[in-house]
Amino acid sequence: MKIAIGNDHAATEMKFAVMEYLKELGHEVVNFGTDGNESCHYPEFGEKVGRAVAAGEADCGVLICGTGVGISIAANKVKGVRAAVCSDCATARLVKQHNNANVIAFGARIVGIELAKDIVKAYLDAEFLGGRHQIRIDMIHEIEER
Ligand code: RB5
Repeated sequence: MKIAIGNDHAATEMKFAVMEYLKELGHEVVNFGTDGNESCHYPEFGEKVGRAVAAGEADCGVLICGTGVGISIAANKVKGVRAAVCSDCATARLVKQHNNANVIAFGARIVGIELAKDIVKAYLDAEFLGGRHQIRIDMIHEIEER
């Protein structure tokens, strides 16, 4: 799988750890985040990952900032993006099964590195269930058209 990853300064160390883990799992990772620790602005990275996923240049995205919230809000402004903040593995599984989230986000100031890896794995291992869930996703995307 080709995975777009993005982060701000609050999450650089975690980004590198997650990138390494994803590569160990056999995925290709494209890094859209900052590699430094200087203060920067998360919307830039949320948008870049969101656009890569929406354009089909990546199969899914991983976003990390302090909380995972700001960067996911930015990504969700890109049409076609369904970015979900997860701080536990059950939510990570369900956002794929029910919401077909194409971007997963979490906070480097909220979860530790081992939990972050487990969250990403739970998300990647899960499959969208379709059916009634697809109806609801279609309704979400109708909002984008209004
Ligand atoms: C940066 O200090 C912090 O605001 C950012 O990483 C994120 O938590 C925003 O949602």
